[in-house]
Amino acid sequence: MREQWGSKTGFILAAAGSAVGLGNIWRFPNMVAEGGGGAFLFIYLIVAFTIGFSILLAEVGLGRLSQSNAYAAFNKHKQGMGRLWGIIGAIGLLSAFIIGSYYFVIAGWSLSFSWQYLVNIFNSDYTPDFLGTIFGYTFAEDGTATKATMLGWMSPLFWGGVFLLVCYVIIVGGIKKGLEIANKVLMPALILIILFMAIYVLFILDTGGKGNQWDGVRYYLKPDFSKINIRVVSLAISQAFFSLSVGYTLLLTYGSYLKKDVDLGSAGRTIVFADTGIAFLAGLITLPIVFAFSMQNPDGTVSAGAGLVFMTLPQVFAELPMFLGLIFFFLITIAALTSYISIVQPLVAWLTETFNMKRAVASTLTFVAAFIVGIYVSLGMGGFKALNLSEGLFRFKPVWNPGSRGVEGGSLDVLDTFDTFVNNVTIPLGALGLTLFVAWVVWDKMSKEIQAGSNLSDGFLIAYRFFLGLVCPVFLVAVLAFGLM
Ligand code: PHE
Repeated sequence: MREQWGSKTGFILAAAGSAVGLGNIWRFPNMVAEGGGGAFLFIYLIVAFTIGFSILLAEVGLGRLSQSNAYAAFNKHKQGMGRLWGIIGAIGLLSAFIIGSYYFVIAGWSLSFSWQYLVNIFNSDYTPDFLGTIFGYTFAEDGTATKATMLGWMSPLFWGGVFLLVCYVIIVGGIKKGLEIANKVLMPALILIILFMAIYVLFILDTGGKGNQWDGVRYYLKPDFSKINIRVVSLAISQAFFSLSVGYTLLLTYGSYLKKDVDLGSAGRTIVFADTGIAFLAGLITLPIVFAFSMQNPDGTVSAGAGLVFMTLPQVFAELPMFLGLIFFFLITIAALTSYISIVQPLVAWLTETFNMKRAVASTLTFVAAFIVGIYVSLGMGGFKALNLSEGLFRFKPVWNPGSRGVEGGSLDVLDTFDTFVNNVTIPLGALGLTLFVAWVVWDKMSKEIQAGSNLSDGFLIAYRFFLGLVCPVFLVAVLAFGLM
């Protein structure tokens, strides 16, 4: 008998725990900045509740229908094009593996930041070591020259490794014991912390006239419709997939552990609502802080990039009570943890079911493989540079959008390359296959699956099929085309 969630709430918490992560707190405010403030937020909200919700529902539904791992789900229902559909499942698994190999590296940075804040809690103007934590640089006595030492490169990997180890212990515990309990405790804690932070920034924070947080609120909430273009829409769609964890076959896997009497539509709405709510709050913390300290650009825009959360905010925390920095980065770490334990799930399910592996063996294999690729990602931030290996294989010049992102003449570091590849190529491709498969290949069974446990009208189902099978694919092709340019 397949493992099952203990309760509907257990499933919703786990799916929301997966959705809420670095995507909400680290990536979302960046995207808002990149997409020009309120205009991005406006488009994002529409996209999340239409395209995001529809594909999420299709993915969870397909999981419950097939009662199997991602590859088998597409392969089992083969018709017409036969085994080719299995490729869609494989693409999803590939996306999960790639994100699994860089996500923990970023989580490691936030874990390291939390630790640095903790041990410096009485050092009132402490700023975490950005270059050391992320790039693994160490400095010479005079503070200028970067010195390449073994310890320097290993420190980001060490923290990433600690993070992985904690996730590993939870994963080996299994669905009910590991995942469900971890999410039940961590999710509410996260919501409390983030609410507290938002209230603090908006109503208590006083920078003594340096700037005004309410300008940030205006920047964030007031859409400038002239800024909306295809790029902003495409950014919003990619962000919605990343943030909702849609397209990685993880929701499919989670759906396969779900009982038939759960109302998928209402569960899906709750998940989208929770994820969007937390992203919204994260923006309401990050962007007002930037304006409160007048760190926006002279033309009123905000610079995006890894630096926004890991460099700009710590400068700000240095002027605030120290414990806020600790809380903030601890929060990011928790959010990343509940996401990471979900990322490996589709791979573990696939390995156990395809190769008859024990859960512990499959988990070990997945974590070790992710860590090994992660070493490459982590060293790509700085270690390779220290070794004078910073060219060629160690930095990528993207064929798509050359020069549009990253530093140094438009070449991307390994992490950005992975992130761009997943979000612009494998995810829209896999999602495209999913929408077509669900709306046109297995629709008869799927419509019953979605209806089980709920009372959706026939009208809704017709509209849903039309939207999923015709409208979503058009947008996904646009994202693909735009992402590959
Ligand atoms: N949704 C997660 C976040 O926003 C990232 C994630 C993607 C997690 C895919 C699992 C699968 O951080």
